[in-house]
Amino acid sequence: MNAPPISVLVVHTVDIDPAVVRALLSADDGLNVVGFFDGFGNHMPTADVLVVACGSYSEEAGSLIREGVDELPDRPVILVTQGAPNGYVDHAFTAGAADLMVLPDPCDVHLARAMSHQVLFTIRKSVQKREPGAAVEGKMVVLVGPKGGSGKTLCSTNLAAALAASGQSVVVVDLDLQFGDVGLALGLTPEKTIYDLLTSGGSMDAEKVDAFLAKHESGIHALLAPRRPDQAGLVTVEFLRDIYAMLRTTHDVVIVDTPPQFTPEVIAAVDASTDVCVVAMLDALSLKNLRLGLETLELMGYPEDRIRFVLNRADSQVGIDLADVQAIVGHGPDVRVPSDRAITRSVNEGMPIALKSPGSEAGRAFHQLAALYTQVPQAAAAKRRRRLSFSRTG
Ligand SMILES: Nc1ncnc2c1ncn2[C@@H]1O[C@H](COP(=O)(O)OP(=O)(O)O)[C@@H](O)[C@H]1O
Ligand SMILES: [Mg+2]
Repeated sequence: MNAPPISVLVVHTVDIDPAVVRALLSADDGLNVVGFFDGFGNHMPTADVLVVACGSYSEEAGSLIREGVDELPDRPVILVTQGAPNGYVDHAFTAGAADLMVLPDPCDVHLARAMSHQVLFTIRKSVQKREPGAAVEGKMVVLVGPKGGSGKTLCSTNLAAALAASGQSVVVVDLDLQFGDVGLALGLTPEKTIYDLLTSGGSMDAEKVDAFLAKHESGIHALLAPRRPDQAGLVTVEFLRDIYAMLRTTHDVVIVDTPPQFTPEVIAAVDASTDVCVVAMLDALSLKNLRLGLETLELMGYPEDRIRFVLNRADSQVGIDLADVQAIVGHGPDVRVPSDRAITRSVNEGMPIALKSPGSEAGRAFHQLAALYTQVPQAAAAKRRRRLSFSRTG
């Protein structure tokens, strides 16, 4: 049984060959192109889908997407572009694109025609999955901590565990690219890592990224750090931005575990995030660096109400108390995690304490932390799982 054709309105920039775009949309019977323009004008025909086509992604393409969304917010906008995915994916989604297709560069009419069924598939999916008012992207929580050993990985993996237990789909990205131990904390062997994804070549889409995620029995997914520190240098900020954008379309929450420093990767992750969670302990160095970290976030213009504070080993008797913390940080912790030998054991077993002993004081602390990110009900069930179909060049 054939579905009725989907009507498509095309607006394109001048740096793409219109014949290539027409060939892309030539799938037999599937699509009905009702208008084809270089830019927006008055009296545009109505259509089920708007395709914005450009040679390489530019401000102009972003404006066309925004204009299309402003005009008819419920009509999906698909971006078709030729440039390699070098950081514009999140711009396109922020502008309001529902999906994205990257063409090989160069692309001629024959190649475009050969890709027309893929385009039809992408367009059909975007129409079927268009649900007015549905949340489009998952949250992205970046855990930062000024000091090694303060408990960032412990909190990242347990936050993921508690969220997974409450039915959210969660992925942890290990951004401690040189010495990451998310895999260890979850008992996952690094069969595939972010380095393998980066060097895999060929076309990349959400399904492919999924194939490079390690899967924990609790349902947590993890994009693990490279096996060797020397592989870390190849992972670029642009590549990471695209990965976050993709993971946010397929998961309710993306959790990013970080190294102790504010590296360019960490700053870019904070920049792309919806929430930051700072983890610190009760010692003067940790708290001093925490203060510096918070000041850095302030300088970046990060909204204060999106920053949470976990005090780890909160029960330590080390001559610093909560009043001191408050004086240094400016406010008290949102969640306090006690020191507990059971935590050390759970890390050694690769089973987060939030799952192993959810009723323990530590287990409850992590469920409390998770609740901070689930209080605003997300349209999790209705979430659109977008598929990014694009070919990577180089
Ligand atoms: N509250 C705690 N109770 C017991 N052990 C802890 C606690 N917090 C952290 N640890 C242990 O300290 C070590 C460092 O923690 P980790 O989360 O890896 O720190 P970071 O990622 O900030 O470097 C780990 O072995 C962890 O099990
Ligand atoms: Mg760590």
